Amino acid sequence: MAEDIANSFLNDFARTKQGNDTIFSCWARYQEAVAQGNDAVNGTIGALLENDGSLAINQTVDEFVRNSPPIEIAAYAPLKGLPEFLDFAVTLTLGDAREELESIGVCHTATASPGGSGALYLAAANYADRGSKVLLRNRHWGPYDGFLAGCGLGIATYPLLNESSGLDLESLKSSLDELAKSQGKVMSWLNDPAHNPTGLSLSSQERMSVLHAFSNAAMANEEVGFTLLIDAAYHMYAKEPHGWAETITDALHDGLEWPANLLITFAISISKSHTVYGLRAGALVTIHPDQSVVDRITTVMGVTGRQTWSASSRLAQYSVAKIHSNSESGAAWSDEKNRLTQLLKERRELFIESCKKFNVPINPTHDGFFAWLEHEDPHSIVESCASDQVYLVPLNGGVRIGLCAIPLGQIERVAKSLGKALGE
Ligand SMILES: Cc1ncc(COP(=O)(O)O)c(C=O)c1O
Repeated sequence: MAEDIANSFLNDFARTKQGNDTIFSCWARYQEAVAQGNDAVNGTIGALLENDGSLAINQTVDEFVRNSPPIEIAAYAPLKGLPEFLDFAVTLTLGDAREELESIGVCHTATASPGGSGALYLAAANYADRGSKVLLRNRHWGPYDGFLAGCGLGIATYPLLNESSGLDLESLKSSLDELAKSQGKVMSWLNDPAHNPTGLSLSSQERMSVLHAFSNAAMANEEVGFTLLIDAAYHMYAKEPHGWAETITDALHDGLEWPANLLITFAISISKSHTVYGLRAGALVTIHPDQSVVDRITTVMGVTGRQTWSASSRLAQYSVAKIHSNSESGAAWSDEKNRLTQLLKERRELFIESCKKFNVPINPTHDGFFAWLEHEDPHSIVESCASDQVYLVPLNGGVRIGLCAIPLGQIERVAKSLGKALGE
């Protein structure tokens, strides 16, 4: 009854919004277990924690944020973002390949956004026709569904892996062909490297195959606009943070003709790379060989931001740009980021080893915050682990293991509990 009354105010899309975010409710369950005095393991949240369970904070960033002048805290940022931040966002996206790409005529534009989520929203709002489908892998970050649905977009998927646990290139190609038959625009989101929820990163060869799949599809369907979005939320914790820019550079050197109807865009998040999750900073960085294309995109994205959240946080943009304007503070940030990457590496290596020991068939996992156990009944696995006071997240098709949150000393216990759950 109460729901009926609420529904009289809510539109059809609002009525589809249900319940709590699974990840946050699993985290709340872990916290409740701790409050009751249990020796519980937190494999739930997507934030990087130190081995003592505290939030990992890059001290260089913290220092620059705290010492920012009052005007940089209080004032609005320019609507499209602070120019120094936008310039840095391009470098964070393309790395050392930036100069080379510029010299061979690749143009870029960046728009500041509230986190990587804001960048994904900018893409959803502008790069696909309402009512069309966006191509994702079948295992993807849950909020994608909501960002897309909110922009009137549906979803088509292809499998995360083929039978030999590699990129399912054939399914990607056929999905692109299929969508191009019925849509004037085809956009695909690919969270790489360091995929959430699996920790999977494509190899350089796989990246090259994906790039060719998109450029071939674009060449075969000249009247269709193709957008490949790389969600780089975790890229700075990967072994090849700028692998995509390197692959694109290599492909162009090897003679790839960039089709005019192919756009490549990156959703960048400062949340994780600079451990400022709450300051809400990110950027959508788009590249294309034609300057007039990127100029038009600059306008469209700026207007979209203005009409959605106004300007993004100035403080985050200012402090991050300031850190990287100076080689000493840039190096201090990098040292700390490397320490955090090492923390993740140690946990991942031990987890893979422990999974072997306890016969847990985890998915390939290479970089970043997570690992993944594919399973048709993830809830039963998560419940069984919870009975051992190991808290994980059941998602569509499997269980997400938040290596980012699990202290090194508790990793083996997680693998053991998973092994036991699988044997039940
Ligand atoms: C895959 C993926 N993309 C994008 C984001 C965006 O993060 P934020 O909006 O906090 O920067 C996240 C955060 O968890 C993520 O996991």
